[in-house]
Amino acid sequence: MIKIVFATANKNKISEIQKMIPDTIQLLGLKDIGCVEEIPETSPTIEGNASQKSFYVYNKYHINCFSDDTGLEVEALAGRPGVLSARYAGENKNAEDNINKILLEMDGITNRNARFKTIISLVIDGVEMQFEGIINGVLLTEKYGTNGFGYDSIFAPALAAGDEQNQNNNLRRKTFAEMDIAEKNIISHRAFAVNKLVEYLHHSC
Ligand code: IMP
Repeated sequence: MIKIVFATANKNKISEIQKMIPDTIQLLGLKDIGCVEEIPETSPTIEGNASQKSFYVYNKYHINCFSDDTGLEVEALAGRPGVLSARYAGENKNAEDNINKILLEMDGITNRNARFKTIISLVIDGVEMQFEGIINGVLLTEKYGTNGFGYDSIFAPALAAGDEQNQNNNLRRKTFAEMDIAEKNIISHRAFAVNKLVEYLHHSC
């Protein structure tokens, strides 16, 4: 049995991926290896943060590991909030504050293009591979929907189910927060990156 750590404290994320990978791999969480400290995320890029997390675990606990890092990149804001997505409005602010900050910055801006990007960094025997997942879309001018989390209520992916119908009816696109989790998971940035990781693990483990 091969053991790989997923550098997350989120048990749901672990069991979701465990179901997708070969039976020969056992996924462990941070707690399982006694890692309870906060892992530094000080890189200026999403790629760098993902890498920093997986190498932190690999170097300190000597176990193969992968980690993920995600951000929303807005074209008219030169890619912001990007790596700062979780704390865009400040350290003690929440998702609502982050959304309000972006909507204010985007007030009057017609280029609404944005994308979510997930990077998974996998470190096996000290060698890193990265897997990228991107979903392009647009930022709406107000919130729609109550599902999901983070920026879901203002982000409408380019290829959403029901999009064609919406366009025919000259309606706006559906946001991630108006989709159920299964629908979002088919086209999400995280799903694309996870699928690439899973495919790699099936071929190499
Ligand atoms: P993390 O790297 O997965 O912790 O994501 C960093 C931040 O990006 C989160 O705190 C959210 O603000 C945002 N984010 C990540 N994934 C999503 C998503 O699927 N929908 C909306 N916001 C997201």
